Amino acid sequence: MTELNPVFLDKLRAAKKISFFTGAGMSAESGIPTFRGEDGIWKKFRPEELANFKAFVRSPEMVWEWYQHRRRVITECAPNPGHLAIKDLESKFSITVITQNIDNLHNRAGSSSVIELHGNILKNYCLTCKKRYDHPAELHIEGTPRCTCGGLIRPDVVWFGENLPEGLFEHAEEEVISSDILFSVGTSSVVYPAASLPHTALKKDVYVVEVNPVETEFTEYANLFFKGKAGVILPLIIRAIS
Ligand code: OAD
Repeated sequence: MTELNPVFLDKLRAAKKISFFTGAGMSAESGIPTFRGEDGIWKKFRPEELANFKAFVRSPEMVWEWYQHRRRVITECAPNPGHLAIKDLESKFSITVITQNIDNLHNRAGSSSVIELHGNILKNYCLTCKKRYDHPAELHIEGTPRCTCGGLIRPDVVWFGENLPEGLFEHAEEEVISSDILFSVGTSSVVYPAASLPHTALKKDVYVVEVNPVETEFTEYANLFFKGKAGVILPLIIRAIS
């Protein structure tokens, strides 16, 4: 990408509010594997055995072991130039990040308004009394952690077949439709209801820009498609308007 589309640049310069809808590709350059594609997590593991409530109740040790492993990977990774570019845009625009990622990296980059549609891997709660355990250090790393009430503690993430936390999706929709521009970054756009957000934006005449190294289910609908990595394209966009 040598030159940015002039229509896009005009839209960007005139924009007041910009939202970002992000998926696993946003964190790929931080070293966190995506779900789909050649090296995707779901090529090696079966979601129904690991990201599913029935599987958790049947075999909490196995699910915990997997989540503790992912926590270790995630805490050793750092936000990449894409996350930092989104944070930097706060000096020029009102920015909301709506993420499907549970890796906490937008928060760690310093973004101040982050909606975590699928939860946050660092957070947990007791299935029985709902007591929160939001600091993993409080949990026994080996084995299956139990609450002081004896209940099973689960990660506060959305598993397959579960609904998003009440009101959160509606909040995300409000943020999207009140934006001048929506960026859809690093998502295969196949998991609903999250994947409906860019379509909702288009219906409300929000200008939607997609950033992805490959075309997705959404690409044909996007107003503009940047073929490339988030950590490369987003800093370029910032430079173009600074
Ligand atoms: P996917 O793994 O389905 O898609 C990742 C996307 O990121 C793909 O389209 C890649 O081409 C793209 N990508 C890879 N590297 C990139 C980079 N450096 N920059 C930009 N894009 C890049 O991940 P999601 O769409 O996030 O759900 O998956 C959605 C949901 O499915 C996840 O939230 C998770 C999963 O099952 C739950 O856990 C509920």
